[in-house]
Amino acid sequence: MPEPFFITTPIYYVNARPHLGHAYTTIVADVAARFNTMRGRQTFFLTGTDEHGDKIVHAAEKEGLTPKAYVDRISDLFRKLWPELNISNDRFVRTTDPAHMALVNRILQRIYDAGDIYFAEYTGLYCVGCERFYTERELVDGKCPDHQTSPEEISESNYFFKMSRYQQWLIDHIRANPDFIRPKRYRNEVLAFLREPLEDLCISRPKTRLQWGITLPFDEKYVTYVWFDALLNYVSALGYPDGDLFGTFWPAAQHIVAKDILKPHGIYWPIMLKAAGIPLYRHLNVHGYWNIDAGKMSKSIGNVVEPLEMIKVYGLDAFRFFLIRDMAFGLDSDFSESSLVQRINADLANDLGNLFSRVLAMTHKYFGGRIPAPDPETTPETTSETAFDIAPMARKTIDAFETAFDTFAFHKGVMAIWELIAQMNRYVDTMAPWELAKKDATRPQLKIVIYNLLEGLRIVAGLIYPVMPDTAFTMIRHLGIDPEAKTGHPFYNLPGLRKWGAIPSGLQLPKSIALFPRIETRAEDKPAGRSTITGTDTPSAVPPIKPEITMEDFARVDLRVATVVRAEAIPRARKLLKLELDTGGKRTVVAGIATRYKPEDLEGKQLIVVANLKPAKLMGVLSEGMILAAVNKKNVTLAGLDEPVPPGTPLS
Ligand code: MSP
Repeated sequence: MPEPFFITTPIYYVNARPHLGHAYTTIVADVAARFNTMRGRQTFFLTGTDEHGDKIVHAAEKEGLTPKAYVDRISDLFRKLWPELNISNDRFVRTTDPAHMALVNRILQRIYDAGDIYFAEYTGLYCVGCERFYTERELVDGKCPDHQTSPEEISESNYFFKMSRYQQWLIDHIRANPDFIRPKRYRNEVLAFLREPLEDLCISRPKTRLQWGITLPFDEKYVTYVWFDALLNYVSALGYPDGDLFGTFWPAAQHIVAKDILKPHGIYWPIMLKAAGIPLYRHLNVHGYWNIDAGKMSKSIGNVVEPLEMIKVYGLDAFRFFLIRDMAFGLDSDFSESSLVQRINADLANDLGNLFSRVLAMTHKYFGGRIPAPDPETTPETTSETAFDIAPMARKTIDAFETAFDTFAFHKGVMAIWELIAQMNRYVDTMAPWELAKKDATRPQLKIVIYNLLEGLRIVAGLIYPVMPDTAFTMIRHLGIDPEAKTGHPFYNLPGLRKWGAIPSGLQLPKSIALFPRIETRAEDKPAGRSTITGTDTPSAVPPIKPEITMEDFARVDLRVATVVRAEAIPRARKLLKLELDTGGKRTVVAGIATRYKPEDLEGKQLIVVANLKPAKLMGVLSEGMILAAVNKKNVTLAGLDEPVPPGTPLS
């Protein structure tokens, strides 16, 4: 029986509406949970809201609400957002839940009784505006970074948690468990911090300055510090110390946080657990920050990205895909709508979408939409140059995907899937099913090729499931599989995906569809949600129609279908790509499309070329023709064909 899997997000403060950053962490946790379900693990996925403390009191005051009315309202916004993003959390915990509050009391009392909490007078630098103490290091030019005022030195009696007692123990634990905090850079950051003497943590606030918190069980004039309260959600939500959930899931606990809250999770939390006699979590997974157009996302700048706005315009799966693909887990990343659109067009509409509709269209064209039964005696014929098969590639991809997702390198796992998709696109072009269809009446070769492609698509659908669950379902439905048939089905688990040949021959497939429409943006379009989907776009200034020509004039232009065999950049030519084309024979064409297309986007694509244009040298390369494309100001979009056609086919 595989080990269970427990994954958590931070519980979010309810002093602001949910934004891109919250959505990212929660989507990552969802991807991890779905992936582990596919491995046959029993999973538990926890998220929730952090509702005590002075930040919340201030936000409520601003809205003219009591803290309770305010936290109920904002917590609800988070709770209702998650189903919209297909988040599959098992629990939503709130720090105002009575069961959570009771547990916080219990743990405080336990640590107090063990002698790890003491009462002392504290003198520190206090900002009245923030109602909190600052350390010298946190101040900017000696002033509060939020209020730009000099803090006052005040003395206050408070309760302290003896963290210093556990410093060496924590260093030893991190050293003995190299992936306790990952990626490595954050482990190193925590170890560097622990090189300095650790201060004891002030865990109380006098009620004279904060009432919105959990009263200390041993002194009712104080409430507890919000972090001491919040971190305990991870065990209170599992019903600690009673019930089965804690026993089943806690030993496999993994947290996900961003780098902003590394210290409470990498230092306070393990020490709290140790002092309370609770075993430690297994991994702390730390990611970087999303910046907006290279700057910080902030309410005052007005660049906060709202997840619901994004999915309304671009679709949920495209948004989920972009977040997972474009952030190397652990590093910062830049969010912009233009990079989102580029990703959708290149990876989703082009690579995946085209492959899917091409393969389904061919199944309909050559086999009336029925999955062909390949003859087990026949092996695919390949020349030495094109000798590759999909089954071994798929096997390698599944291994790479599993290793990457298991270690939270999600972007790498997605890249591995897209490598398989690119290879399948190349397989279509080299095997040229349209040629095979002409060759032999019983079409043994064509059956193998189409079957392999459909089976490859089943595997791709399974692999994208954690990131794009809806698209995965659409794909398998179009591959004749009932998405309701969950348990045990080879689509839903990794061992099933590894079984080559699971897609049943003879199934009748529904008509092919476009999985992702290409998105065009108008030159004048700018941010959030103002892009338009193909078909509604018009060039901003339409040039006048050229003088009339006769049919004979037009007939002199020889337009041909070309398949891109290879594409490469031309050194020192920013806009140009060198394309090696198959137009029935081989030819080279130089095209000014590099600002819009990457070489790897083009290989295997079918284009239209002016085949009888006088050759010309561009940047030292002889160009034997011209590619057709729609050119609208800076935007270039290649003209293509509805369905694959043999290279060299004339257009008329
Ligand atoms: N309430 C505390 C956490 C307590 S956990 C016991 C808190 N809340 S928060 O609302 O500020 O959420 C911080 C978390 O939101 C980050 O750690 C990260 O998961 C997510 N993000 C917020 N902004 C982000 C970005 N700009 N980029 C990526 N994620 C970020 O801290």
